[in-house]
Amino acid sequence: MSVATGPSATGSSATAAEDAVRVAAVGDIHLGEDCTGLLRTAFDGLTDCADLLLLAGDLTRHGTAAEAEVVAGEVRGIGIPGVAVLGNHDYHSGEEAEITRVLRDAGVAVLEGESVVLSVAGHKVGVAGTKGFCGGFVGRSAGEFGEPEMKAFVRTTRLSAARLTAALGDLAVGGCALRIALTHFSPVPDTLAGEPLEIYPFLGSYLLAEAIDSAGADLSVHGHAHLGTEHGMTAGGVRVRNVAQPVIGKAYALYHLHPDGHGGPAR
Ligand SMILES: [Fe+2]
Ligand SMILES: [Fe+2]
Repeated sequence: MSVATGPSATGSSATAAEDAVRVAAVGDIHLGEDCTGLLRTAFDGLTDCADLLLLAGDLTRHGTAAEAEVVAGEVRGIGIPGVAVLGNHDYHSGEEAEITRVLRDAGVAVLEGESVVLSVAGHKVGVAGTKGFCGGFVGRSAGEFGEPEMKAFVRTTRLSAARLTAALGDLAVGGCALRIALTHFSPVPDTLAGEPLEIYPFLGSYLLAEAIDSAGADLSVHGHAHLGTEHGMTAGGVRVRNVAQPVIGKAYALYHLHPDGHGGPAR
């Protein structure tokens, strides 16, 4: 598998280009009720350049169902499959279940510890998704010790990582040509570069990377770190992309993935 950014990065071989699965991805669009139509024109062009759209959470500003209706209006009927996870903003008003329903009604697969298999560009492409949670990275992470509140905090991340492991495992059994891990929080510190070091523990967790490396994936996509960096990699060699809209600076990033024929993780 190879990962490239932009249509021109697939090389000149027509065969290679035809074999690619074109993944559009964006997170942190933070649409409010006053944002109707903001992304619609860009999304209407997706059928020309992408086979699926990934939405990496923080789709709303304050996590209301009314804002989710705006998001739904942007993605309904775009002509390619859409797969989403929610972000922390989408939980803010306690309406995450309603947001999930609104997006699903618009045709988007909303994942939380689940996976979906899509038949696109002649390949079975699996997406395993969870919002994820925070806690920090190796050597600088929260531990499951002390007060019940601290233990609950860390267990939240552990549970999310375990669900991601299971969801990616389901895709491996299913024989997908490509497997993508979709989260809101980051699995690695690489893609946080640009953020203040002091808030790294609130931007992601190494437990998510351990899940991705243990179960295997061809690509990891996340958002949440608005001041971060697009490109990173797990310790196991899985490419990580931070697609927070302020990072990519456009309606969506585009990655061309080439199935390796056996669906194993990129190393
Ligand atoms: Fe955000
Ligand atoms: Fe966020």
